[in-house]
Parts: sequence; structure tokens; C-alpha cells
Amino acid sequence: MSQVNVGLCGLGTVGTGVVKLLTGHADEIKYKVGTEIQIKKILVNDVEKKRDVAINREWLTADPEDLVNNPEIDVIIEVMGGIDDTNILLEKAIRNKKHIVTANKDLMAVYGPKLLKLAKDNKCDVFYDASVAGGIPIIRPLTEGLASDKIQKIMGIVNGTTNYILTKMSDEGLDFDTVLQEAQKLGFAEADPTADVDGLDAARKMTLLANLAFKMEIDLDDVEVTGIRSITQEDIAFAKSLGYTIKLIGNASIYDGKAEVTVEPTLLPNDHPLALVKNEFNAVYVYGKAVGETMFYGPGAGSLPTATAVVSDLMAVVKNIRLGTTGTEYIVPQYEKQLKQDDEKYMQYFIRMEVDDAAGTFQKITNVFTDENVSFQKILQLPSEEEKTAQIVMVTHKISKQQLVNSQENLKRLDVVNEIISCYRVDGEE
Ligand code: NAP
Ligand code: HSE
Repeated sequence: MSQVNVGLCGLGTVGTGVVKLLTGHADEIKYKVGTEIQIKKILVNDVEKKRDVAINREWLTADPEDLVNNPEIDVIIEVMGGIDDTNILLEKAIRNKKHIVTANKDLMAVYGPKLLKLAKDNKCDVFYDASVAGGIPIIRPLTEGLASDKIQKIMGIVNGTTNYILTKMSDEGLDFDTVLQEAQKLGFAEADPTADVDGLDAARKMTLLANLAFKMEIDLDDVEVTGIRSITQEDIAFAKSLGYTIKLIGNASIYDGKAEVTVEPTLLPNDHPLALVKNEFNAVYVYGKAVGETMFYGPGAGSLPTATAVVSDLMAVVKNIRLGTTGTEYIVPQYEKQLKQDDEKYMQYFIRMEVDDAAGTFQKITNVFTDENVSFQKILQLPSEEEKTAQIVMVTHKISKQQLVNSQENLKRLDVVNEIISCYRVDGEE
């Protein structure tokens, strides 16, 4: 095969980076895959728009059929976004025996397993390394470098926007709305940043990682998601005084064949490797039964970093074409989905509440926890701004989610507890 032809869907932030890499690194790429890669068509909304990269304008089209039904095109690179319509387009392309490379986590978190099965039946590749943590290679390590291991836990900072917001709130004392606007200006927040701050973007990425790591079809709806809107400067200050940093952490773990996937604000000890990941950077910690701890760190978004992952996927497709094989064969889910119940999910928790500053309060509170067999690693009490009240912060030892829920219900019934202000997971310590 003297040349592999590509149809590129999208010429925005990522698509522009893809064109720059394919032209700027053409010699290295050709040497490594042993053949020329040529863009044949580029799908965009507006063919007249001025572009930030040198292209042959004859490549531009607004008609998807020019790509998916084009017999000259071997590989579709999808970097335009969208879910349902994009899925229809990619299904059609696969039925026409075209390999797919995509950076679209929104699409893959919903349609990924079906697309992979369709690709397997049609002997095509579907690669999507850029869809999780942008420029950090993380999908391929799970499917190749760590393929011989059993992955037991993945913890990730997989959303740059929220990590940027929490870093600035914590290090510079800035307020949430100011920092969110900065993140939007810098270009790593989604057009609608709700998906970032409410944890959905991270949940989509964790779904993809959990599916691959545990080889079962975990749905987006199976992920328990809490975003960062409720985190206040007071939470950050209390966490700091106990030696913790607050991060939005995606957590996927499996025990005895049962999985749990969450995205939620989590307190990490200040010296935990993920606590040291600042600003818009991403990092993914993977624990394998044999390998132990590994960590992947880098830029989670941006034109050239994301394009690096896209073009590397493209190169893997080209190598497979030359070898007459595909990579989808062994990454479709293998096991029936099994999820942990609340009494099987064990974690430490940070609980902050406002209570009456009066004799007997502490005893009533500890009685509630004693009844649920909950014990504590750390306790802090400080006077509250409100008269005759105090704030109590407790960090539990590992307890089940069920124990936490029961304790919270019983605390709310106590007349001495005015409010449970916040409750966050604590990880990386016990
Ligand atoms: P973007 O800058 O908004 O670019 C989207 C491109 O797709 C534009 O060129 C647009 O055409 C074209 N397009 C969109 N919808 C189309 C449609 N229905 N028909 C034809 N063309 C269409 O988006 P992006 O930031 O590059 O992101 C692309 C994908 O990569 C998304 O799935 C995103 O989640 C993912 N991703 C992005 C990053 C990042 O850092 N940006 C990182 C990881 C993953 P016009 O130019 O004519 O408007
Ligand atoms: N909005 C995403 C983030 C971009 O902040 O991480 C990369 O997927």
C-alpha cells in the first residue's frame, strides 16, 4: 500500500492541530508507518471560513457523504464533536469499511461499545486515545502496555477546567466564577462549561477508562457524579488545616468482580501525586495487581497535545492496515456488568457540620457514629461565626457508603446539629 487516505471531520482546535502534525511531522510519520498519509477531504460547517492552517481548499466540504461514501478514503478522523448525528455518520463509515479515529468522549461514552462491536464485525479499527486526557497516552497503555495485568484501581484528574478552578481557588484564594471565566478564555472549558463543573465531562472519560480496564460495559448512568460547585473557601481552608488538597477525582475500582465508578470532590493528602497536579494539567493513576502503581501526567487538552494522540492513533491504524489486522477484536467488553452496592463501597470521609456550642453536643454526635460502628482518624472543632455555635470536622476511618448514609440521616435528626455543611471522600491515605 503506497498511500493511506484520510477524511478529516472537523477543522477546529483539534482538527487544525491534526493537519499541522500531518504536514509538519510528515517525514517522521512516514518513516514510522512505512507509507504516505494523505488528507483527501475535510468536513466543516462553513467551507468559506478563514482557517488557521494551510490547506488545499478543495479538500473542504460540508457534505458528510463526500467522506463516508468516498471509496478513496480509508480512515475517518472525527474531531468535530456531537453525539447522535455523529454516531450515525461513523456507523455508516464503518459499514463502508472505513477505520475510525476519534477524540469524542461524549460520543464514545454513549455509543462506544456499540461502535466497537460494529467495527469488530466489519474488521475495522476504532481508536479513541485522544478522548481521555487529551495529550496523555492512557487508552493505549490500558489496552497494550498493561494488557498482561489485572487493573484494580484508576484514579484520575481528567478534567482540566475543574482542576484549574480548584488550583486557583486554593492557591490564590480566587472565587469560583472569576476562575471559571478565566478557564473559558484560555480555551479548555467546554462551550457549555456545565459539563466540566458538574463532573459530566470527567464521568464520560471515567466510563471509557473503566470499560477498558474492567472489560465490562459500564454505562454513563452507572457513574455517581458530583461536581465542584458546592466547594467553598471554607472547605478548602478546613481541608488545608488537616493536611489535604481538594481535587475533582474520577475513581474506578473493582473488587471481587464488582466495579464502582465515581466522580466527586475528594480530599487527598498534600503529598499524594495527584494533589501535586496543578492548573489545567491532567493525571491518571493506575494500580495493577502485578505492576503496582503507575502514573500518567500531561496536558489534558489543547490543539497540538490532543492532535498528538489523534495522529498516533491514526499511525496505529495505518500499521494495522499494512499488517492486515485490527485492534478492536479484543477490546470489546468481556464480562457481564456487576456493580458494588453501597455496603460494599469502602472509603474515608470528611464531614463538616455546624453544631450547638453547648455541653453534651459532642456526646450526642459520637453516639450516632458509635451506633453505626464508625470510628475517626481526625477531629477538629473551631468556633463558628454564628454565636453559640461551633464547626466540627471529622475524618472517618474507612467505612461503607451505607454506614455514611445511615450516620448522616441520624445526625440530621439531632437537635444539636444545625447543618451538615459538607461531606467529601478522602482517598490515598488508608
Ligand atoms: P471545535 O474547535 O469546535 O471544532 C469543531 C469543528 O468541527 C469545526 O471545524 C466545525 O466546522 C466542525 N463541525 C462541527 N459540527 C459539524 C457538523 N455537524 N458538520 C460539519 N462540520 C462540523 O472543536 P474541538 O475543540 O476541536 O473539539 C473537537 C472534538 O475533540 C470534540 O469531540 C471534543 O470533545 C474533542 N476534544 C477536544 C479537546 C480540545 O482540547 N479542544 C481535547 C480532547 C478532545 P466550522 O469550523 O466550519 O465551524
Ligand atoms: N473541557 C475539557 C477539560 C477539555 O477541561 O478537560 C478536554 O476534554
